[in-house]
Amino acid sequence: MALVLIGFMGAGKSTVAAGLASELGVAALDSDALLEAQFGHSLAREFELAGEESFRASEEELVCRLLERGGPEEVIALGGGSVLSERVRRALENHVTVLLDIDTDTAWERVREPAGTAQRPLAGDPQSFARLHAERRGLYEGLADAVLPSPTLAAARSALGTLHSLEGAPKGTRMVWASSASGDYPVILGHGLLAADDGEALAGLWPLPRASSRGFCVSDENVAGLYGGRLGKLAGSIAIAAGEAHKTLVSAEKVWQGMLEMGATRADHIVALGGGVVGDLAGFCAATYQRGIPVVQVPTTLVAQVDSAFGGKTGVDLPRAKNYIGVYHQPAGVIVDPDVLATLPAAEYASGWVEVLKTALIAGGELWEEVASGGALGEQTIFACIRTKLAVVAADERDGGRRQVLNLGHTVGHAIETVTHYARYRHGEAVGLGLLAALRLSGQDQLRGQVCALLAARGLPVHADGLSAEEMLAAIARDKKRLGASVPFVLVQAPGDVRHGCEVAESDLRSAIAELSG
Ligand SMILES: NC(=O)c1ccc[n+]([C@@H]2O[C@H](COP(=O)([O-])OP(=O)(O)OC[C@H]3O[C@@H](n4cnc5c(N)ncnc54)[C@H](O)[C@@H]3O)[C@@H](O)[C@H]2O)c1
Repeated sequence: MALVLIGFMGAGKSTVAAGLASELGVAALDSDALLEAQFGHSLAREFELAGEESFRASEEELVCRLLERGGPEEVIALGGGSVLSERVRRALENHVTVLLDIDTDTAWERVREPAGTAQRPLAGDPQSFARLHAERRGLYEGLADAVLPSPTLAAARSALGTLHSLEGAPKGTRMVWASSASGDYPVILGHGLLAADDGEALAGLWPLPRASSRGFCVSDENVAGLYGGRLGKLAGSIAIAAGEAHKTLVSAEKVWQGMLEMGATRADHIVALGGGVVGDLAGFCAATYQRGIPVVQVPTTLVAQVDSAFGGKTGVDLPRAKNYIGVYHQPAGVIVDPDVLATLPAAEYASGWVEVLKTALIAGGELWEEVASGGALGEQTIFACIRTKLAVVAADERDGGRRQVLNLGHTVGHAIETVTHYARYRHGEAVGLGLLAALRLSGQDQLRGQVCALLAARGLPVHADGLSAEEMLAAIARDKKRLGASVPFVLVQAPGDVRHGCEVAESDLRSAIAELSG
């Protein structure tokens, strides 16, 4: 198998291919450069002389030849339009296909040239360039075994080990290379990764060297029994009682103490196997045990697979303040097997779907349309949610700005969880109610009605009887203090246009809470 780089114009395929090839001591092949050599002139000139159809036929021939004989001694960069060919797409199945993803504005800045000098025949003006990118994006994503959302050579170099491990992975396994200011890590998604009793499907994919770093599993009592044996070789396991009521310092102490008794050292790592409660707690314990050891997140609920396992927020609750104690600690890797959702109780699944809904409101576009259609949720939707969350975190790891949009629905949601003592509503259920409040505060009556209907269709609560406005306001005020002076409301202008740091009058907030309880 060769590493084959695909992606839009300006993504840096030629540069990254050359850099990776030199790192590996293998050859870099660039289909555009080879075509130019074959034509004896630029691709733009060939377009002029022979037209696009003829150019695509020559490109298909050359690329298929490269892919048919390509092997581990090569890193191949493909021209942006070559994957339009069905034959090329079939030939890619025998290789590790890596998408160098890039946003349209950055791509345009990189490829734009003074009028009349353009070397790229399809980079004529920004509007048609953006249209072309939008048309091709889905095609690229569908073909990619791995996605590098920040496609620098440095990121590609860091991802090399994981890219190679994909060769032996179960068919359909995909990887996204997550970036943040404090570190990069692989997110590996695939059906059946946790299917084998001995963890065999994970062999080779584990993000840390098993020979030198021992894994200690932290799970809850439900999940440990179901999937505790599916992770391959572990040095020890600790199970806490399940549920939000146990995301506490008492549970954290149990984990720290257990790690100490089992002899875990700074060279070892924690494996967080479970939902958001386990992920947050185990991540916190990893961040603090002996001043910090790595954590591999293995999320088993929908909430965790689309949201909580990524981005490095870890912590525990205080009795009167949710997520009040914690640290940022990015995972060393995240392993997602959507098949484990089959054992998730229906109510937990529905609750997790609220984070999907929230993510779709933030992302807008295709993800919103799909989620708003109310259909069943597939692996592609999980993947799209992961990509959305990773993009937000990459832009603002520490919640200084853009990341706050992920709190959509959470200010009121967290207050509901707190005033009901973490016992009446699941996290997602409370966030669903919080979304309704946020949409009321946003003045989005129609969208609120649509979201209300979507929640009700999944059996999720759309009313919260007996909420005390005073208790809710006090809980929200504590949340505000946590976030500093700014008013922490995230409001929605439209799906895909979500704004943070919005001011909200107390009287409006009271009305939005009263509407929920009414
Ligand atoms: N860190 C973040 O960025 C972030 C983001 C969103 C939510 N969160 C946190 O996530 C938590 C909620 O997470 P959650 O909804 O996953 O709850 P959870 O972890 O309590 O899991 C819900 C229930 O499902 C069970 N379960 C888990 N996986 C299962 C499976 N595959 N089959 C059968 N049962 C299974 C658990 O034992 C538990 O009883 C909250 O504490 C919230 O604050 C954190």
